Amino acid sequence: MWKNLQDHHAKVADRRFETLVDAERAAEFTAQADSIVLDYAKTNIDAEGRALLIDLLDATGVAAKRDAMFAGQPINETEGRAVLHTALRNLDGDPVVVDGKDVMIGIQDTLARMSIFSTEVRTGAFKGQGGKITDVINIGIGGSDLGPAMAVKALAPFHDGPRCHFVSNVDPADIAGVLRQCDPTTTLVIVASKTFTTIETMTNARTAQAWMAEKVSDTGAQFAALSTAADKTAAFGIDPSRVFGFEDWVGGRYSMWGPIGLSLMMAVGHVAFRDFLRGGQAMDRHFQSAAWHENLPALLALVGIWHNQICDYATRAVLPYDNLLSRLPAYLQQLEMESNGKGVSMDGADLDVPSGPVVWGEPGTNGQHAFYQLIHQGTRVIPCEFLVAARGHEDDLHHQHQLLVANCLAQSEALMRGRTLDEARDKVADKFEGDELDRQARHRVFPGNRPSVTIAYPQLTPFVLGQIIALYEHRVFVEGAVLGINSYDQWGVELGKELATALQPVVEGAQSAADKDGSTAALVAFLQGNGV
Ligand code: F6P
Repeated sequence: MWKNLQDHHAKVADRRFETLVDAERAAEFTAQADSIVLDYAKTNIDAEGRALLIDLLDATGVAAKRDAMFAGQPINETEGRAVLHTALRNLDGDPVVVDGKDVMIGIQDTLARMSIFSTEVRTGAFKGQGGKITDVINIGIGGSDLGPAMAVKALAPFHDGPRCHFVSNVDPADIAGVLRQCDPTTTLVIVASKTFTTIETMTNARTAQAWMAEKVSDTGAQFAALSTAADKTAAFGIDPSRVFGFEDWVGGRYSMWGPIGLSLMMAVGHVAFRDFLRGGQAMDRHFQSAAWHENLPALLALVGIWHNQICDYATRAVLPYDNLLSRLPAYLQQLEMESNGKGVSMDGADLDVPSGPVVWGEPGTNGQHAFYQLIHQGTRVIPCEFLVAARGHEDDLHHQHQLLVANCLAQSEALMRGRTLDEARDKVADKFEGDELDRQARHRVFPGNRPSVTIAYPQLTPFVLGQIIALYEHRVFVEGAVLGINSYDQWGVELGKELATALQPVVEGAQSAADKDGSTAALVAFLQGNGV
C-alpha cells in the first residue's frame, strides 16, 4: 500500500517544487470549505502524488470508517465505544442512534440547560453569596481544559460575560495564582472532568472548595460540574441542577462542543456558542460530502501523511499568525498526539510506518524571533502549517494586521525559495571579498525547498473557530483511519499515572524508596533533603 508512494517520493524527492508553483497549480492545490481556504501548493505533492495519496484513503476504507463514526458505531474498539462528538454540534437534531436510542434528545436537553444556566450567571439572576458572578474558574486538565481555554482566548473579542480562568496543573502555583485574582463570594467554580476521578482536578477542586469555605457558607451553591459520572459529582456535594452530563462516547479531547464548553458559553453567551457549534457542523457536512480532492480534512491529513510517513519529517510546526489562536498548538498537541501517538494498529500488530508526528508551535511573529532560525537553516526539514485571517478585530490598527499578514506570506515564500550561494554573495559583496566573501555568504544561504501549508479565513469568529477545530479533528480521524489505529483511546497515559500514585507515599516519606531504581531513589533523596 505504501510502496507506490515511497517509489514516487524517491523519484521526486530531489526536485525543487518551487518550479511547479504557477497560477494553475495554486488553483489546483487549493481547496475551500465555506470561507476557509487550504493552500497546499507549496509542497512537493504533485498530481500523481496526490492521486496515490487518495488511493490510500480508498485502500483503507476511510469513507466507510467515516460513515461508521457519524452513524454511532463503536469504532473505539479497545473501549467498545462509539465516537460521537459530532452529535454535540448536530444542531438540526437529526436522530443519531446508539444502542437503539436517539442520543440527540439528551444532547439538546443538556445544551438548553447550559444555555439557561449561563444566561442566569451572565445576567446576575444566578448569584453568589456576594452578588453577581464576576469570575468563573474552570478546573480541569487535558481535554477538560485545553479546548475551552484555547477557545475562550480565541474568542476574546466576543466576551461579554464574567472573567474566565483556567486551572489545570496540580502544581499549587497554578491554582494559587488564579485564586488570588478572585473574590470567593462572587466566583463560580466549574469542575470539569469526564471521569471525575482525575487526581489533579479533584485535588484542585478540593483546594478551591476550602478557599471558598472561608468566606461562603454554602460552597456547593457556587460549584458546577461537567462530567459523565453523576454519582461522583453528587458525592462531591454538587447539586444535580448544576451538573451537566455527557456520555462516554464523547472523548475528553473532543469534548469542548458539549458541557466541557460551559466556560466558553459563560464568556461569549449561548448564541455565539451555537455559532461555534454551527461552524463545526458545517465542517462535518463538508467532510461527509466533498470529494477527497476537495475535502479539507482529507487533504490536510494526506499532506501530513506525505510529510510524516513518506518523507520521514518527524515534527510539524503549527504557526498561527493570529494571536487569538495562541493556545491552538497546545490544544493540537493533545488532539493529535494523544489520538495518533500509537504504536500498534487496531488488531494489535506493530505499525509498519511511523505513527503521528510531534506537533508544536507558537504564534507568529513571535516564533520568527525565536525558533525560525532552525526552521530555515537547520539540517532537519520541519513542515509548517500557517494560519492567517484576512482581518483582525482591531479596525483602527488594520495597518498592523497587514504587517502580520505580510510576515506570514513572507515566511512560506522564504521556506520555499530559500537563497542560493550566488544570491547570498551578492548580498554581502560590498562588505567582503575573496575567501572571506565566500565564507560569509555560506552562512547566509537558505536551502529552501521546505514545505508549508496555509489555512486562510476572513476573520476569527465563533463560526470560523468551529470550522477550524472540526477540520483538525477530522484530519486526525483520517490519519488514524489510514494507519489503522484507534485514535480514540489513550492507554499511553496510564503507566505514569499508576507509578505516580505508587510514588506519592514515597515522596511523602511514609514509604521507603528502597525498591525503586537507583536514579529515582537518588532523586527522591535529593528532593527530600531539600524539603519536599
Ligand atoms: O490523562 C489523559 C486524560 O484521560 C485525557 O484523555 C483527558 O482529557 C484528561 O485525562 C482529563 O480527564 P477527565 O476529564 O476525566 O478529568
